[in-house]
Amino acid sequence: MPLPALQKFEMKIGRQIRFLEARKNIIERKIERHIRLFEEKRNGIGRKIEQQVRQFELKRGIRLDDEVRFLRSWIERPLTIGAVTPSGKVLARTMARYVDPNSTGPVVELGPGTGPVTEALVAAGVEPSRLVLVEFNPGFCRILRARYPEATLVQGDAYSMRRLLETLLLQPAAAVVSGLPLVTKPIKMRWRLIRDAFELMAPGAPFVQFTYSVAAPLPKRLGGFSVEASERIWMNLPPARVWVYRKA
Ligand SMILES: C[S@@+](CC[C@H](N)C(=O)[O-])C[C@H]1O[C@@H](n2cnc3c(N)ncnc32)[C@H](O)[C@@H]1O
Repeated sequence: MPLPALQKFEMKIGRQIRFLEARKNIIERKIERHIRLFEEKRNGIGRKIEQQVRQFELKRGIRLDDEVRFLRSWIERPLTIGAVTPSGKVLARTMARYVDPNSTGPVVELGPGTGPVTEALVAAGVEPSRLVLVEFNPGFCRILRARYPEATLVQGDAYSMRRLLETLLLQPAAAVVSGLPLVTKPIKMRWRLIRDAFELMAPGAPFVQFTYSVAAPLPKRLGGFSVEASERIWMNLPPARVWVYRKA
């Protein structure tokens, strides 16, 4: 290409790049404005709900601290928390029923939140010192540390359970009890989680998972394990079912 034509071409490209950059900046500013508006709206709704909960408490003379903390965390990260309120007592007791308190070895709880299932496990006879709690929400970790000082608390990602617990568990776990919102994750990730749990557990030990969804959190067709399910617990909000997996 002759030199003047090349220079013309370069200038044209330069103009187009400048035009695209200007458009990109406008679009970025627009997106930022939308995000800010969304966050302001979300915080407003959160504050309104909290106010209503406080008024409800005042009227009834009760405290709903765990519910409020849970709700606040859910407003901030709905998919990670996976529920608007902590599990009810019936669901928590049903989860705990699948853990033999006379077994030996640690009992691992994934995603204990504010601890309703932890409480049911202890009430069912599991020594708090056997509990290994894996939770990554720092606010929930503070509550758990205060309520279960004898338990081992791991603030981290349950999906990295193997790396987190491999050296921490001195013997195979007697059970893994999970409150994680598993169904929000791709099937491959769920499969990896249960496979890692089986690696850490004694043979025949249960992997206990609850879900609000109608379908099983891990489809039977994946194979390699036995499955049993509780009745649907209508008393819970929303109604839930407990699924128990054991390595075949
Ligand atoms: C549906 S809530 C259940 C809480 C509690 N077990 C209950 O029954 O009320 C899910 C919990 O899992 C925690 N969680 C979600 N993803 C997690 C992850 N990858 N690692 C550790 N905890 C996680 C959330 O912070 C939340 O406490």
